[in-house]
Amino acid sequence: MPADSTATSTGAVVRAAIAAAARAPSSFNAQPWHFTAHPAGSADQHRVDLALDRSRVLAVTDPDAHQARIGCGAALYTLRLSLAVSGHRGDAALLPDPADHDLIATVRLDGKHRATPHERALATAVWRRHTNRRPFLDRPVPPPARTALVRAAAAEGARLHLLERPTDLGAVADLIRRADNLLSQNPAHLTEARRWVGGTGHGDGVPATAAGRPPSPDTLVVLRDLDSPATPVPFERLPLLAVLTTVGDSDGDQIAAGQALQRVLLTACVEGLAVSPLSQPIEVPTTRRALGEVVGAPAHLVLRIGYGHAGVTTPRRPLDEIATGLAEEKRA
Ligand SMILES: Cc1cc2nc3c(=O)[nH]c(=O)nc-3n(C[C@H](O)[C@H](O)[C@H](O)COP(=O)(O)O)c2cc1C
Repeated sequence: MPADSTATSTGAVVRAAIAAAARAPSSFNAQPWHFTAHPAGSADQHRVDLALDRSRVLAVTDPDAHQARIGCGAALYTLRLSLAVSGHRGDAALLPDPADHDLIATVRLDGKHRATPHERALATAVWRRHTNRRPFLDRPVPPPARTALVRAAAAEGARLHLLERPTDLGAVADLIRRADNLLSQNPAHLTEARRWVGGTGHGDGVPATAAGRPPSPDTLVVLRDLDSPATPVPFERLPLLAVLTTVGDSDGDQIAAGQALQRVLLTACVEGLAVSPLSQPIEVPTTRRALGEVVGAPAHLVLRIGYGHAGVTTPRRPLDEIATGLAEEKRA
């Protein structure tokens, strides 16, 4: 066995973990992240740096990079999870450089980890999870599944508010409609969104196959218009909506919201639930504030949750475009 075989196999684990992390959701599938793998040195363990890729932040729709940080947080959670099921404890330091908040986290491979069956189930879900924009069934989400989702968010330092009171559901549906209406009248937003809708042919953007058919006008929740030419169809009559919040609204809180988002989405997948994120009310400052008032905390995203027919997964950029320092892939 060659002397550096442990380093080589750890390099392969890191490579696989970054590939899994890239399956994380991001606004318009812009994938605003870059990973740098650092092999172990004489005094240091293997390390992965995760940075915000500013060239992929939507300047009009996401001027403060709020949603981009949520996407990076989701990728960070997936990286940690993937390392964990490969038997490595990933010690994550959030925003480790006070002078550079675009460095989202460094994750050091810091010893062994014995993965739990639940972690394994979540890690398997990484590859089948997808945003489902189709109509859901009119079948309520039972209390144990609701509890699992709420716990998943709490485990990552965030809170998932399930809108169980009709007045809250109505208020949030109104805010989504109001924000969607304002966005649809903003030419700069529409021009920016158009760049990503339909897919770009380079493994990013939202392809037409994932857009689904638009909801008929009597549907309570307005989904983002992804330029689908299909005829509208009726959606579920009583959707379950949830709002993801954190106590504060710092860069660190937004990353925590992203980590929680991915844990919630993977938990939903394990529970057999479909989810579509709705960020229109986050993209308009007045509706974001109003949304925060409904749930009493800074709001990061609305989730529509239910049972549905599976949709399709969406492509990602090649690994060598999103990461540097990767170990060569072993050829058979
Ligand atoms: C912060 C954030 C905001 C999002 N907002 C929306 C949205 O408003 N409407 C929508 O249909 N999907 C939304 N999505 C889902 C992304 O479009 C989706 O994650 C991306 O296209 C990749 O597809 P996948 O989730 O199926 O892997 C959002 C995702 C994130 C992380």
